[in-house]
Amino acid sequence: MSFDTVLVVDFGAQYAQLIARRVREAHVYSEIVPHTMSAAEMMAKRPAAVILSGGPKSVHVEGAPVIDPALYDSGTAVLGICYGAQLLARQLGGEVSRTGQGEYGRTAMTVTDSSVLFADLPLTQDVWMSHFDSISAAPPGFRVVATTPGAAAALEHPERRLYGLQFHPEVAHTARGQEILKHFLYDVAGCRPSWTMTSVIEQQVDAIRAQVGDEKVICGLSGGVDSAVAAAIVHKAVGDNLTCVFVDTGLMRAGEAEQVEDTFRRQFHVDLVHVKAADRFVEALDDVVDPERKRKIIGETFIRVFEEVARDLQDARFLVQGTLYPDIIESGTKDAARIKSHHNVGGLPEDMDFELVEPLRNLFKDEVRAVGEELGLPEEIVWRQPFPGPGLAVRIVGTVTPERLEILRLADAIVLQEMRRVGLEREVWQSFAVLIAVRTVGVMGDERTYAYPIVIRAVTSDDAMTADWARVPYDVLERMSSRIINEVPGVNRVAFDITSKPPGTIEWE
Ligand code: XMP
Repeated sequence: MSFDTVLVVDFGAQYAQLIARRVREAHVYSEIVPHTMSAAEMMAKRPAAVILSGGPKSVHVEGAPVIDPALYDSGTAVLGICYGAQLLARQLGGEVSRTGQGEYGRTAMTVTDSSVLFADLPLTQDVWMSHFDSISAAPPGFRVVATTPGAAAALEHPERRLYGLQFHPEVAHTARGQEILKHFLYDVAGCRPSWTMTSVIEQQVDAIRAQVGDEKVICGLSGGVDSAVAAAIVHKAVGDNLTCVFVDTGLMRAGEAEQVEDTFRRQFHVDLVHVKAADRFVEALDDVVDPERKRKIIGETFIRVFEEVARDLQDARFLVQGTLYPDIIESGTKDAARIKSHHNVGGLPEDMDFELVEPLRNLFKDEVRAVGEELGLPEEIVWRQPFPGPGLAVRIVGTVTPERLEILRLADAIVLQEMRRVGLEREVWQSFAVLIAVRTVGVMGDERTYAYPIVIRAVTSDDAMTADWARVPYDVLERMSSRIINEVPGVNRVAFDITSKPPGTIEWE
């Protein structure tokens, strides 16, 4: 199974990822590459097309990034977008000038000459602009095929397969942008729309078989979507040669352990080692209040447990890891070692002598979910919200005891159920309960109570680096509050956290 590949050259703006995703939405495989890559290195990847993304800089700024001009003579279809278009124009002998009249936001564009990029599209349409400089003269041999008041919006040299767009076709504000991009991909570059989740799975299955042959593979399951999807693909590829290890720390959410059992043992018939280590973790956490100590103890205990299991699986040479494409992009290079220490499932030992199998390393999170659905994983796993490695332990402010864990698990399940009931579970980044290990006074049925408060935390976020507290409707909060107090013994008060990040963090510890 082979796919056409489109390279998206990154000039350091936030647009490269978005372009890569739009190309994939057109069912064409895309990869992001740095602008420092030479044309020869690009050609070695046999791309069907190269897209030059927008950039933060002006082409006039000293040290502004350029591209190896040999690319323009390679015969490969090239599309420059915004900065990419200006760069292409300038490098090929056109003029980019600082008119002092930048264009920002929605702008009316008129198609002035026939172009395959705008085939079947209206002659005037709104496009999204964000640029300061303008292309004031097209390079020799190029035609300007669309304009905005006072500036060139699109130029092309079809014989050389070179195209430039001053606007951003990849953003949703350019309503017909995806169609323009598809015209470039299908009609200019001749790409086939063959990159579907089904074909991704087939390709990965082939790649995994080629990598591991008849050898044994182990995969740590965390209960989350990434490790589950990675395990499911590998299982499809190697069948009984896969052993999954699920360490039940006792710090998981309600139903998580059962879900893993049900899915992997009963539905997929995977050889699953389910290590029930709750007592061990609670014991190790005895009397510990400090959040960093909790994390350290949990990490170490996890490693010890995993090592004991791995000793019994001595013959396994391969370890599956759920590394995703953004992890690879963020690390900038093929710096696998760094990625490994950051993204180990539950913090596996670093000195274990395994070769990694990373079937998701080319996929974005939503693609991982789509692959999970295609593989028949249950919705609860595929759409599970992120959960910290140290689990519920960092959502109990104070010492961790079995009683507190039980209370928190019940309250947490109610928060999630109520979010799900009104369709908000997937809208927010995370929604969960926190238990503060102090007691407050209340009154229930004429009786004085003295019990724990539960804090509801719900946040919206794109990447967990920053977050805002979710505006959960009052009636939903009311139901959560009343259900938690009525159904969870040991709780008599519910609060809602209205702190964004920064200054707060998403988790309480
Ligand atoms: P904070 O609390 O730092 O969390 O705002 C950011 C995101 O990371 C998750 N988180 C973790 N994930 N291991 C993980 O795998 C951890 O130790 C850990 N701590 C926090 C948190 O749930 C949020 O999504």
